[in-house]
Amino acid sequence: MQIISISSLKGGVGKTSVTLGLASAARAAGIPTLVVDMDPHGDATTGLGVSQESGVQDLGTLLSHPRRYTLSEHVVPSGWPEPRGAEAGSGRVLDVVRGSSRTSLFERPSTRPRELRRLASLLDTVTRYALVLVDCPPALNGVTRMAWTASSDVLLVAEPSLFSVAGTERTLRALDLFRKEYAQGVRATGVVANRVRPSSTEHQFRLGEMERMFGDRLLPVHLVEQSNWQQIQGAAWPVHAWPGETAAQSSALFDKLLATIHRPQTDRRSARRGS
Ligand SMILES: Nc1ncnc2c1ncn2[C@@H]1O[C@H](COP(=O)(O)OP(=O)(O)O)[C@@H](O)[C@H]1O
Ligand SMILES: [Mg+2]
Repeated sequence: MQIISISSLKGGVGKTSVTLGLASAARAAGIPTLVVDMDPHGDATTGLGVSQESGVQDLGTLLSHPRRYTLSEHVVPSGWPEPRGAEAGSGRVLDVVRGSSRTSLFERPSTRPRELRRLASLLDTVTRYALVLVDCPPALNGVTRMAWTASSDVLLVAEPSLFSVAGTERTLRALDLFRKEYAQGVRATGVVANRVRPSSTEHQFRLGEMERMFGDRLLPVHLVEQSNWQQIQGAAWPVHAWPGETAAQSSALFDKLLATIHRPQTDRRSARRGS
């Protein structure tokens, strides 16, 4: 089971959008996937068509009482319709651990080492999934550190803009320090550029800067600025099921991104030990 945290220090760069795009690609590819919504705003939960009051416990409650609950009893299926071309009831698995403002209880600058393991412990009990996507809040406090402790990979999202590039460099440095101290097995999978306008000279300049700064860590897939992205998210639909050429192009980019970062054989437990 590969566990990927999607992170950035800066808000609004597209963490949730990338999480949802990857979830859509994974579902289209038939990869059993769990989305863990770590952001107190719960945007991924909303985007996956899951109501905040769906009868199961939210992540903040599960993390507050990790011994009281079994994670598999508190996941809900996404409310997304089937992707294009898929048969109805094809048995595809895309589940969600609901986010809620209660997660912000852990949004402190320092979290005790035992607390840092809480998400990892919850995930240790699930076996149904090949991929777990963890949508993180825009900060490097307790919640993100808990997500990194549980992860085999961290994917950073950046926009081709001055502040976002600078923020990504700081996030990479923080991640390197964190790995040395707490979680040597976590890989910095790379940085994905989002909201790229290929015709923009400024964006080309910033992408060049990112290549120099991040080297191989800048992933070869660049996600483009998409005119109807908010409409798709607002409708709580997977991009792979949305009609039209723009959505098809975006779906293809997410397929490529998933193929670049997904390692089917990853066992997080051995990854965490650094083997
Ligand atoms: N590639 C894209 N094209 C167009 N709009 C985008 C794209 N990526 C993100 N957005 C929009 O930008 C806003 C912030 O994205 P979001 O994924 O919520 O960022 P974060 O989770 O990092 O705060 C949202 O309104 C989203 O719809
Ligand atoms: Mg978000």
